[in-house]
Amino acid sequence: MTDTMQRIVLASRPEGAPAHVNFRLEDTPLPEPGDGEVLVRVHYLSLDPYMRGRMDDAKSYAKPVEVGQTMEGGAVGEVIASNSDLFKPGEFAFGMFGWASHGVLPAKALQKLSPDLAPISTALGVLGMPGLTAWHGLTSIGKPQHGETLVVAAATGPVGSMVGQLAKARGLRAVGIAGGPEKCRLAVETFGFDACLDHRAHPDAASLREALAAECPDGIDIYFENVGGKVLESVLPLMNVGGRIPLCGMIAWYSGADLGDRNLLPAAWRAILVKRLLVQGFIIFDAYHRLPDFLEEVAPKVASGEVSYLEDITEGLENAPDAFMAMLKGGNTGKTVVKLV
Ligand SMILES: NC(=O)c1ccc[n+]([C@@H]2O[C@H](COP(=O)([O-])OP(=O)(O)OC[C@H]3O[C@@H](n4cnc5c(N)ncnc54)[C@H](OP(=O)(O)O)[C@@H]3O)[C@@H](O)[C@H]2O)c1
Repeated sequence: MTDTMQRIVLASRPEGAPAHVNFRLEDTPLPEPGDGEVLVRVHYLSLDPYMRGRMDDAKSYAKPVEVGQTMEGGAVGEVIASNSDLFKPGEFAFGMFGWASHGVLPAKALQKLSPDLAPISTALGVLGMPGLTAWHGLTSIGKPQHGETLVVAAATGPVGSMVGQLAKARGLRAVGIAGGPEKCRLAVETFGFDACLDHRAHPDAASLREALAAECPDGIDIYFENVGGKVLESVLPLMNVGGRIPLCGMIAWYSGADLGDRNLLPAAWRAILVKRLLVQGFIIFDAYHRLPDFLEEVAPKVASGEVSYLEDITEGLENAPDAFMAMLKGGNTGKTVVKLV
């Protein structure tokens, strides 16, 4: 066994969009597991939009990554040493190992995976945090009803594609929004959306709204909010009275909002008031107790192919920063993962 490992640390805090200078690849001694801990060799690392927030020194629902610390992230891999009865070497686990080739965590902090039931990388996407996010946000806040219309952007990503498929399974009209014609084709053909609009083909919110109105002739009952920005501006006036907005993310503004001298708040507030909208933010870490129920419903459908998923796989830890920066701008198609082994 090697006595060193690799990790990517936060080298400096970004101003605006992250750049190479904000990341550094380091060699470091392999840690030894203490009592009750296991050492895992990471096979797949998850790259997620929330990591952009951890790079800022701002008060949020989670602590920022300190400069010089390993970038935070979930990963799956093989147990190579164990000081716990809960895991044997050779078993597979999900844990928050960060952007690193190896990691030590308490066995109790890990989720055991069965590679026979699903490829282990799915624990990072369709059967992991993003899938659970879609399912929880839709069922607990969106409260979908047969015959309603739902809109979601980032429609081919792990959250948006799951929202669309769950909505279709519950008898809704599902309209996706995605970046580019190829993603829109995938949204319809692979994920079963009734229609998908390319937000890049519309220069402003008014133009996107006109196209959305045509695809949502009965208005919008649920807007699953992933992106903010131009999409949010286009959707709000089309919401029906009593509509629901699970506020999951606002990736268009994660690296700062460039609104010029426009102030969107009065129009947004007015739409919420006159349409009596329910807007509820949620952070999935508060709802992890629902993971078993989510897996009970969705894991068999993934196994049977009834629920589809796409993975965007980059090879090599050293390429994680590029994959991450690309994903934030829509360069990914499907769940962004880095393959290390
Ligand atoms: N609340 C929670 O607990 C929670 C948990 C997980 C995820 N989330 C949020 O859910 C959202 C989706 O996450 P994901 O993991 O499924 O990401 P993802 O879809 O794999 O990747 C992000 C996507 O956002 C889209 N995007 C980027 N900038 C955009 C812009 N200016 N306008 C419109 N779309 C833009 C791009 O898709 P296109 O190329 O199709 O535009 C990009 O591929 C993110 O906002 C994330 O932060 C929240």
